[in-house]
Amino acid sequence: MKARGAKIAALTAYDWAMTRLLDEAGIPVILVGDTVGMVVLGYPDTTHVTMAEMEHHVRAAARAKPNALLGADLPFKSYETPEEAVANSKRLAGAGAEFVKAEGGREILPQIKAILAAGVPVCGHLGMLPQHVLEEGGRYRVKGRDEAGRAGLLEDAAALADAGVFAIVLEIVVPPVAKEITRSVPVPTLGIGSGPDCDGQILVTPDLIGLFPWFTPRFVRPRANCAAEIKAAVTQWKQSIAGV
Ligand code: KIV
Repeated sequence: MKARGAKIAALTAYDWAMTRLLDEAGIPVILVGDTVGMVVLGYPDTTHVTMAEMEHHVRAAARAKPNALLGADLPFKSYETPEEAVANSKRLAGAGAEFVKAEGGREILPQIKAILAAGVPVCGHLGMLPQHVLEEGGRYRVKGRDEAGRAGLLEDAAALADAGVFAIVLEIVVPPVAKEITRSVPVPTLGIGSGPDCDGQILVTPDLIGLFPWFTPRFVRPRANCAAEIKAAVTQWKQSIAGV
């Protein structure tokens, strides 16, 4: 798709029904993201998500047998060493993931190479790394603003591509730098809050469909208001059984 300039639309799903719906809508890449922790499990950030929780949700999504490529996030601290990265990637693959995603660049290259050597495809993730949000004082900061940041991202992207990742997520990277990275690597970039010039876009589905009304990232324009529809439907039903 990158070669022919076709934009890649990727979304997250955490269960059977949403995976089926996205697949039936023709979404080619579905990620069981560790955002499951925030939009499904009620954690304040993704650092609380466990391997057991990821496996549970990957199994549910995989039961939908999507035509889409189905991937899963390696959760926080599940890939500290190459050995741990391989063991946990195999667990996610065993649950039905066709690829795993890991956050970081050159600092996690040994882990990425080990996972690839074990036969599990890897998607990289650069820019804002939500698993590091606590180190960033709890803020989701835009990346690539200064020259050092730009150069670091370009080097990380090149290193990930050389190692053999099949795609790279770019999270809230300043758009001109996301564009530069996209042009510089042979693999597709999937942007989230990184401007229009990535090879594709990835979003957290509840943000896109207005299913998580308590927080919407500023770069998302919800295309539905599912939360309001749910509340209206249950209120209507409640009134109907009360005979109002
Ligand atoms: O966990 C997730 O949902 C993600 C996407 C936002 C890319 O990593």
